[in-house]
Amino acid sequence: MSKEAKLILEDKEFALPIITGSEGEKAIDITKLRAQTGYITIDSGYMNTGATKSAITFLDGERGILRYRGIPIEDLAEKSTFVETSYLLIYGELPNKEQLHHYSELLTRHSMIHEDMKNFFDGYPATAHPMAILSAMVCSLSAYYPESLNVFENMEMQATRLLSKLRTIAAFSYKKSIGQPIMYPLDHLSYCANFLQMMFAHPSQPYEVDDDIVRAINILLILHADHEQNCSTSTVRLVGSSQANLFASISAGICALWGPLHGGANQEVIEMLHEIQTTGMKCKDFVAKVKDKKSNMRLMGFGHRVYKNYDPRAKILKQMADLILGKKGIKDPMLELAQELEGAALSDPYFIERKLYPNVDFYSGLLYKAMGIPINMFTVMFAIGRLPGWIAQWKEMMDDPDRKIGRPRQIYTGQPERHYVPIEKRR
Ligand code: ACO
Repeated sequence: MSKEAKLILEDKEFALPIITGSEGEKAIDITKLRAQTGYITIDSGYMNTGATKSAITFLDGERGILRYRGIPIEDLAEKSTFVETSYLLIYGELPNKEQLHHYSELLTRHSMIHEDMKNFFDGYPATAHPMAILSAMVCSLSAYYPESLNVFENMEMQATRLLSKLRTIAAFSYKKSIGQPIMYPLDHLSYCANFLQMMFAHPSQPYEVDDDIVRAINILLILHADHEQNCSTSTVRLVGSSQANLFASISAGICALWGPLHGGANQEVIEMLHEIQTTGMKCKDFVAKVKDKKSNMRLMGFGHRVYKNYDPRAKILKQMADLILGKKGIKDPMLELAQELEGAALSDPYFIERKLYPNVDFYSGLLYKAMGIPINMFTVMFAIGRLPGWIAQWKEMMDDPDRKIGRPRQIYTGQPERHYVPIEKRR
């Protein structure tokens, strides 16, 4: 097969190289397009634009496949922990026993934040969304670790610090928002158990970590850990491409994740289910409403830019929701409503024709809710999960000798040149 694509422009023919990935994905390399032809490409929403080559995550949206460093997500969800999966994403291989032990120790050692940073939490109103606090705190870490400004040195130490501290910041912001004393991390606890302890323990009472919940949190975080060049990851890469430090780049990624069309959808799903419950609306009527473009509404937790099949993460979470809620003896009418809504949508021609399936956010909120995590912390949970992916992608870019600042072009559609009109002569 030809290794070139032919482009005919104004009677001239140009040859453009074809790049093939390790799973057979194909791209036309247009790196020299403008220099050779004077043309650029326009691709709204980057639907067809590959921003990078990457060896981290493979995703086939048509077949519902997701693999981190070649390992299927189903395998990792069943057998791995979040810390081990983070190592895999960031360093490229599963750690051996010593490497995992050393990595876990480092994460334990760096779990505290500078005492001064605790005062920052006092500056926020009780109504502050925890995503606003999270992104500001993460950016502020660069003030406490000024060596992070040199992005090519100590990269791995900054990454480990951040991975460890993000859950501490998240839990502190939650404690602050409910007016409870913050709980410091405890060194004998695992990454996820420690997070739960900081979220839910009280200084006045002993706290017992529930192993089922720890396992569930591990799985949820693993499922969110990377998703190749999505909106927030592309933001992390774009900001990092200017050689802004890791903390600043991740802080920007947190803001991108916050939006309801991305990580903010898990919160929106619960709010949507709540609305259906309280108004007593029938599922088929709600489905009719989201199909009506005039309503400006969407079925939150449904549809995906890349998956045109059942999101493999949603499949795992749907089973987990049944399992965890069943085990805890919780009969959640919201889960039943979600299942009914899913059934109504999946049998509707509108959703079938557009290949709209539940995405990771459709069931994750129900699980977080069952674990006692408040709704406005759902997207924070997503951010904790996605962090190793952001770090791995940032590191891959920084390690690439051919990296370039990200700087797209545009086609200007504004006014042609005209002269400045003094204010007294303006109509
Ligand atoms: N409900 C109703 N209709 C939908 C939905 C939905 N959830 N999602 C897409 N559609 C329709 C669109 O209206 C459009 O219809 P049309 O062809 O008649 O105009 C068609 O399906 C294609 O939709 P686009 O918006 O063009 O698809 P895109 O790839 O740009 O958007 C997105 C993907 C943003 C995820 C979209 O499906 C959506 O808004 N979903 C709801 C929000 C959500 O769950 N986000 C979480 C995504 S997963 C994540 O970030 C972790």
